[in-house]
Amino acid sequence: MKKDTLYKKPKKTVPPFEFNKSVVDVFDDMIHRSVPFYSERLTRMSQLAAMFYQNESRIYDLGCSNGNFGLHFLGEMGKKPFDMIAVDSSNAMLEAYRKRLSDRPNGDCIKLILDNIENVVIENTSVVIINLTLQFLPVSERDDIVRRIFDALLPQGILLMTEKVIHENDEMTRLQQDFYYRYKRENGYSNLEISQKRDALENVLIPEAIETHIKRFQTAGFRTIDIFQKWFNFSSFICIKS
Ligand SMILES: C[S@@+](CC[C@H](N)C(=O)[O-])C[C@H]1O[C@@H](n2cnc3c(N)ncnc32)[C@H](O)[C@@H]1O
Repeated sequence: MKKDTLYKKPKKTVPPFEFNKSVVDVFDDMIHRSVPFYSERLTRMSQLAAMFYQNESRIYDLGCSNGNFGLHFLGEMGKKPFDMIAVDSSNAMLEAYRKRLSDRPNGDCIKLILDNIENVVIENTSVVIINLTLQFLPVSERDDIVRRIFDALLPQGILLMTEKVIHENDEMTRLQQDFYYRYKRENGYSNLEISQKRDALENVLIPEAIETHIKRFQTAGFRTIDIFQKWFNFSSFICIKS
């Protein structure tokens, strides 16, 4: 795993964050050191996905990056066939994913689509994953995407989502951020790296409050909703179309 040193040196101006080739090269190190319980979340999501996957239906991984969820899911399914559509708007991410799939038995169960999630038709699905990705989409598009997911899900289908979140109370948001920056320092990031990355993500990653997400799920039609993993400002949700 190549070490993430992208923000180590001072930059005169910090350009907006993009999922380009330099990010892809260090993505696994970056995400493991930046998202608390990242592996645990993927493990539980792939177990839940395998449990709720319905034969002959599709599973969608929206914002699949270099395939960490897909590879977990392949491991979980073993020899069982499935049909996954993995979508990402970064060609560099999908190139990396394609390489990782090439020597996997059952790797052809996963079809990679280079496109914006906003353009993708979602249909005949029992499981939709949107892990750490809704936060990168324009806020104005989010209601529509969650509604389209709900409409496309079969009965007993699930949506699994992780997001960085803010708190409705500013004091609590500050406390959560403080602990998040501690976490990053404990994982070897310097204060300069933390602050330059924060600048890069400004207006690119737009987090919302848990209540906003839950209201959006409910408005879309979900009635069975839970948070199955929470760490300060990171929440993983499960919504069942019951
Ligand atoms: C933080 S990463 C997601 C991590 C991944 N889901 C995982 O679990 O490892 C966000 C991904 O969303 C993709 N992305 C951002 N906006 C997108 C959009 N509008 N349509 C499709 N993909 C998008 C990025 O290219 C990036 O690969």
